[in-house]
Amino acid sequence: MRQKIVAGNWKMNKTLDEANTLASEVLGMVADEVKSEVKVILCTPFPYLLSIKNLLGNNTKISVSAQNLSEHEAGAYTGEVSAAMLKSIGVAYVLVGHSERRQYFGEDSALLAKKVDIALKHGISPIFCCGEPLEVRESNGHEELVKKQVEESLFHLSADELKKVIVAYEPVWAIGTGKTASSQQAQDMHAVIRKHLASKYGAVSDDISILYGGSVGAANAKELFACADVDGGLVGGASLKSRDFTEIIKSI
Ligand code: PGA
Repeated sequence: MRQKIVAGNWKMNKTLDEANTLASEVLGMVADEVKSEVKVILCTPFPYLLSIKNLLGNNTKISVSAQNLSEHEAGAYTGEVSAAMLKSIGVAYVLVGHSERRQYFGEDSALLAKKVDIALKHGISPIFCCGEPLEVRESNGHEELVKKQVEESLFHLSADELKKVIVAYEPVWAIGTGKTASSQQAQDMHAVIRKHLASKYGAVSDDISILYGGSVGAANAKELFACADVDGGLVGGASLKSRDFTEIIKSI
């Protein structure tokens, strides 16, 4: 059975105190209530990963994730954070290829393939993000583009490696815009992604969690999560408020 996941992407928000408060509130609200098959992941800024990891203690339902990592092992790369560093503080997940990284930091498929590789090499599961901008959706090129993104950054993996990857479909036009994909649009694209994974990896694709991201909120989460191929969500804005985020978690 596929793992159900609700991940909160805090992006570049919160001070340390605010971050600790948010994490403790989420922990307090969901610790006893999260269904055992649901995994909650907090994608925090780098400086807070360790303190929030410590705050979560040995709770197995909630984990931390980094939002990015370097494609390099180590060395003279000022300002970068390596997979080995993340691993050394016990981080088990990392976002790779979020559309903001693609758009503002010029990260392309070849670079993202390297980031996926180095994360896996260090035993960290990449949460690989893909999704089309508005003009591509409007010209009906979304399926082709997303398939290409998946292919170019993931299809070099072995089936055993792919099993450790989580995919997040995030249409760029829905991120931070309040304009969410309809549950039909989400289901259709998730099915396209799963079928594409199946074309290369066969039945392994049935075990890959595919999350939907883009203006997920307490009001639309239930309907989105009810779709057959939607295995959870990657939540931005609404993950910054503990009440909204826990409502979303509870709706899975
Ligand atoms: P949003 O962001 O929920 O604020 O639209 C989602 C994301 O960027 O991961």
